[in-house]
Amino acid sequence: MAVATPTTLDGRTLSRSVLDECRSRGELLTERFGVIPHLAVVLVGDDSASAVYVRAKERACRRAGIRSTVVRLPATSSTEAVSDAVTSLAADEGVHGIIVQLPLPTGIDPATTLAHIPADKDADGFHRHNVGSLFLGQSVYPPCTPEGVMRLLDNADIELEGANVVIVGASNIVGKPMAVMALRREATVTVCHARTRDLSAHTRQADIVICAAGHVGLITGDMVKHGAVVIDVGINRLPDGRVTGDVDYDSVAAKASHISPVPGGVGPMTVAVLIANTVRAAERSVGLPSPRPDAEGTEFSTVSSAQGS
Ligand code: GUN
Repeated sequence: MAVATPTTLDGRTLSRSVLDECRSRGELLTERFGVIPHLAVVLVGDDSASAVYVRAKERACRRAGIRSTVVRLPATSSTEAVSDAVTSLAADEGVHGIIVQLPLPTGIDPATTLAHIPADKDADGFHRHNVGSLFLGQSVYPPCTPEGVMRLLDNADIELEGANVVIVGASNIVGKPMAVMALRREATVTVCHARTRDLSAHTRQADIVICAAGHVGLITGDMVKHGAVVIDVGINRLPDGRVTGDVDYDSVAAKASHISPVPGGVGPMTVAVLIANTVRAAERSVGLPSPRPDAEGTEFSTVSSAQGS
């Protein structure tokens, strides 16, 4: 059974509505508290892909009407110098969200620098406190890419409950938190990775495939079932400069019910969630009870009790 044309999961359009909502919340903050949400980005060295991503983050801040500051440091900076830059942003009451753009140049320890971002300014959702909160179903600052994927799925009314979700890639910033989020929504979750023996045996069973492996063309049409939802988190640069994902779009689109393109799928959603996290941090800085992404849904414990365990 062929599925004629899959629905495109359009992250560009959805991200604009997220940013417009951020703008309204920011305007309210300014009117009532004189606060303008402010994201600070630490960019070290001159990696061209990082420069492109940071420009996209600055554009999104403009669209949402929030402030952005980019602190640029040379590639030769020490771990201590980058940590010091983060520490002074952390002490600045006018800064609500802080991120260190990754990857850092060789010789700078990312874990050490990231540890200087306080949990309540952690717009990326990487801090161990925020990772733990996610695990416990109490997330306030969700990691941007997995939350962006969830919003794409929700916006298309794709049911997670009971679905077989196969995640390809087990990174700390995408695969693992994605698995926790899908599990919280009562999906049956499989996480595949570089040592998985028969990848397609897993992906062929999936109602939803989420690929974040960083390999061009890893997921092909023969690896997905008819009607599957396929989310491409990969961002790979081809030798000719074009950006492509992990999914072989044409062969997968011939079978999928829904597919996210690259560019224009998950990428813009990642940036939009970063801005939403920054606005949330600004709201919380003045004591406003901002909506928590985890506020609704079924408690994790329900899943185990339903199984009688
Ligand atoms: N580099 C690529 N993606 C990301 C991201 O989501 N956050 C940070 N800080 N760096 C990145």
